[in-house]
Amino acid sequence: MSGTEEPGTPSAETATGETAAVRRLEDWDGTALRGLVDDYGSPLYVLDLERVRENYRRLTAAFPDAAILYAVKANALGDVLETLHDAGAGLECASAGEVRRALEAGGTGADVHYTAVNPPARDLDWVVDAWAAHPDLTVTVGAEDTVDRLADRGYDGRLCLRVNPGIGAGHHENVETGGHAKFGVPADRAVDALADAADRGFDVVGLHAHVGSGVSSEQLDAHREFVSRMGDLARSVADAVGSLEFVDVGGGFGVPYRDDEEPLDLEAVADATRSALGDVDATLAIEPGRYVVADAGVLLTRVNTVKEARETIAVGVDAGMTTLLRPAMYDASHPIRNLTADSSAAGERDPIAQTVAGPICESGDVFCTDRELPATERGDVLAIGNAGAYGYEMASQYNSRPRPASVVIDGDAVRLARRRETVEDVTRLETSRVPTDDEPE
Ligand code: LLP
Repeated sequence: MSGTEEPGTPSAETATGETAAVRRLEDWDGTALRGLVDDYGSPLYVLDLERVRENYRRLTAAFPDAAILYAVKANALGDVLETLHDAGAGLECASAGEVRRALEAGGTGADVHYTAVNPPARDLDWVVDAWAAHPDLTVTVGAEDTVDRLADRGYDGRLCLRVNPGIGAGHHENVETGGHAKFGVPADRAVDALADAADRGFDVVGLHAHVGSGVSSEQLDAHREFVSRMGDLARSVADAVGSLEFVDVGGGFGVPYRDDEEPLDLEAVADATRSALGDVDATLAIEPGRYVVADAGVLLTRVNTVKEARETIAVGVDAGMTTLLRPAMYDASHPIRNLTADSSAAGERDPIAQTVAGPICESGDVFCTDRELPATERGDVLAIGNAGAYGYEMASQYNSRPRPASVVIDGDAVRLARRRETVEDVTRLETSRVPTDDEPE
């Protein structure tokens, strides 16, 4: 990047000193972002750690008494985990790999909740081993037989039960979990399951549910209904097992992906959560992922092709569904800004309907269809906004495309946090390609 310019936005801080509820793509310093592509190439993920802290601080302000566990799956980069751990967040992990990364980022057992979804044996083995060194870690089970499998491995530590409250919510059916058969134990079996676990010597500490991702202000009624069911259930469980340390209502706090969407009214969500939970002698826990990192990240990509297609202008870029899967997988809309067209040197560019697509041989490899953007030229740098959550984490090497590099910004400092993969990284694990000892030189 050029000099010490700060690609983040000063406008995230309001006059009152509170941080803005949303950072829009236009709030980023376009010149500085373009400089990052010059320095680190494209496609490139950029993450602003100060914005991560701001988002976390807004959550702690709205939920002052709650335990806040960052959902690591949204963005597991070590710098993000360290930043959030330093800020006081716990870490909710979906796999043994995430538990390992959480511990490596400085998390202690007390910070780590492992949410076991149909856990492979290898994950349980690893986590139970880790428990020996970190006896305060919590395992959240979503099936009664996971309790048996933990017992088989000698685990009788902190146990939380994930229930399926029969209510779903979210921006797309693929991220609704509340009513989905795969997740959690049906709520009407929760009391028996936890009483049984307590009888078997487990340290029963919590009740958990996560109903979906992308909950919006319009879905507050569903949220209220869900939390009130959790409150009722928590009271029954506490009666059966003596006491409960926490009731975890999951994550799912939505962020605006479209310019005309308003940011979530966090205070309203917090008020609704508290009142719906009712009088429960347990700490409220939440597990936000997207809310913490989404608008702290952008994906930068360079235009390589511009052509007149049948009914639109097709713009080809070097990032694709392997870099950011959300548009292809969920029809997700991400803001797109042409950083080159924004610069004064580019002159006036008329807005025109354009379809921005990646280099992958799939018709779904499209970031937007017929969107009005300033006329694009080959070589332009585009920024795709709200890419901090579920961006790099869902990236793949499909079409033998190495995954991109990630840069973090922290105040005035900018550094490469994860190097760009090479094709050698893609083929590295093929045994026929790895020279073995008895192979001729
Ligand atoms: N807790 C649990 C148990 C979860 O399964 C999830 C997300 C979260 C917390 C965090 O949810 P969040 O606050 O980030 O909405 N790839 C999808 C999202 C899948 C979320 C899966 N679970 C997307 O890009 O929209």
